[in-house]
Amino acid sequence: MRLMFSIVTSSCSSVCSCSSHIWSTHQSTVSTSIPLSKYPGPRLWAITHFPDAYHRATGRQAHLVADMHHKYGPVVRTAPNELSFCEEGAWLDIYGKPVSRSTQLPKDQQQILPPPSGVWNMSQQPSDEEHQRMRRFFAHGFSEKALRDQEPIMNKYFNLFIRRLHENCAKAVDINKWYDLLSFDVMSDLAFGESFGGLENSKLHPWTKSMQAMLRAIPVLGITQKYYPLDRILLLIAKPFLRESELKFYNFVERQVMKRLKLQTPRPDFLVYAQESLNTPESLTFQEICENAGLLMVGGAESTPSALAGVTYLLLCNPTCLAILTSCLRTTFQSVDEINSVTVNIDYLLAVLNEALRLYPPVPSIFSRVTPPEGCFIAGRYVPGNTSVSVSQRGINRSASNFVRPNEFAPQRWTGDAEFRDDQLKVVQPFSVGPRNCIGRNLAFFEMKLVLAKLLYSFDLELCEESRGWMDGQKILFFNVRPPLMIKLKPYVKA
Ligand code: HEM
Repeated sequence: MRLMFSIVTSSCSSVCSCSSHIWSTHQSTVSTSIPLSKYPGPRLWAITHFPDAYHRATGRQAHLVADMHHKYGPVVRTAPNELSFCEEGAWLDIYGKPVSRSTQLPKDQQQILPPPSGVWNMSQQPSDEEHQRMRRFFAHGFSEKALRDQEPIMNKYFNLFIRRLHENCAKAVDINKWYDLLSFDVMSDLAFGESFGGLENSKLHPWTKSMQAMLRAIPVLGITQKYYPLDRILLLIAKPFLRESELKFYNFVERQVMKRLKLQTPRPDFLVYAQESLNTPESLTFQEICENAGLLMVGGAESTPSALAGVTYLLLCNPTCLAILTSCLRTTFQSVDEINSVTVNIDYLLAVLNEALRLYPPVPSIFSRVTPPEGCFIAGRYVPGNTSVSVSQRGINRSASNFVRPNEFAPQRWTGDAEFRDDQLKVVQPFSVGPRNCIGRNLAFFEMKLVLAKLLYSFDLELCEESRGWMDGQKILFFNVRPPLMIKLKPYVKA
């Protein structure tokens, strides 16, 4: 689907125009299958796209690829022209711009349907120059200064979140839903200039639900690209659904952006710089602003609640870590109001978040890039041209070669504990690396630190029996598909 990050189900070899992509898929499979044969992997996956495509559609592919790495080693062939890597050097070689190359590897564009408006957002944009041009306009909204200016807007929602939990804590709550409500309220305010009002109404905005459903359909629809001539038929069937959801999404975004740009009072949100430069020769067009506002909304509102839900669950399963962090917060602060972006910088809190991002990366899907026609070196290995390459986050983050007790939640590995001194912390890159890494990294940490600190300061938390095993076997359809996370909250009363 076009509206988000580049979609990751692709196996096509090249960045190709839509009219010709069917043939390029076909040909690339043939042209690269022999040179890739030296890379290990299950035989069936190497000779046909079917297992990869099928498991992407069922949300199991990322789990299975991680298992393959444990079985076969640091490089695995996951489709006729796809390789997955599990080595630190692969991050920069695939997603960055190493000194050995003058350009970035292009995103595998196969799954990106041309937008109805004909305008790409920055994440989909195939041209690096155009990507940089767009990103520059929005980077201002994510600077240190912007974050400081946005703090009062965000604090309003963080405090409302805590108040609403106080009002609802007589019974068990689905904290996953409350994190969603919070993130969508914050992001809609910063991207569109007005909140969805989810926390007030305890309800997700109807647009949010259709957006989530759409995101989850993406990998399923991606299968259409794998089978010639079936891809044409499948795409024909899927297209009306796709286009209808897309149009609903964009009509809504356009209305919101139009309203926001009409506001005369300056506000420190994501659109302020784009608004200021409107009607100047170098400005973004209205359509470009809309495409990117939609992207920021989706990118910000789906990933941060996933991280928060993950860290909450992991803490609840590890009572000692929960007790250390809670006591640290309650001794550092006299009241919840003392927690702000300056005071919240507590090493153990950061360690807890990093460890949760390692075990439960919020964007775990494998965002592939394509090697140039002449091939290139990745982590010291030659990879033939037109190969789709990616890093398996689940594989690299849980590899016994990188971590002591890799599947255990151990925040102390981030604070210099001697037992974990050989851990390869640099392999954990939940925000990716390089010029197309996450623009919202600082904002995400800002939100995660403040929300978690305020929650743990305000309540004693307990996991409900029905949510034990919440993380096990979750589907990955671009993002983690999160079921309800039921917890009990007991307000903390300072002695
Ligand atoms: C824990 C939270 C987050 C995680 C783990 C995360 C992760 C990522 C990753 C892995 C990418 C690279 C995708 C690719 O290469 O295709 C990315 C890109 C992006 N993220 Fe995030 N993200 C988070 C929060 C946010 C927030 C809060 C925002 C905005 C409000 C945001 C906006 C974006 C945008 C616009 C891009 C595309 C950047 C570009 O193409 O230049 N993300 N994110």
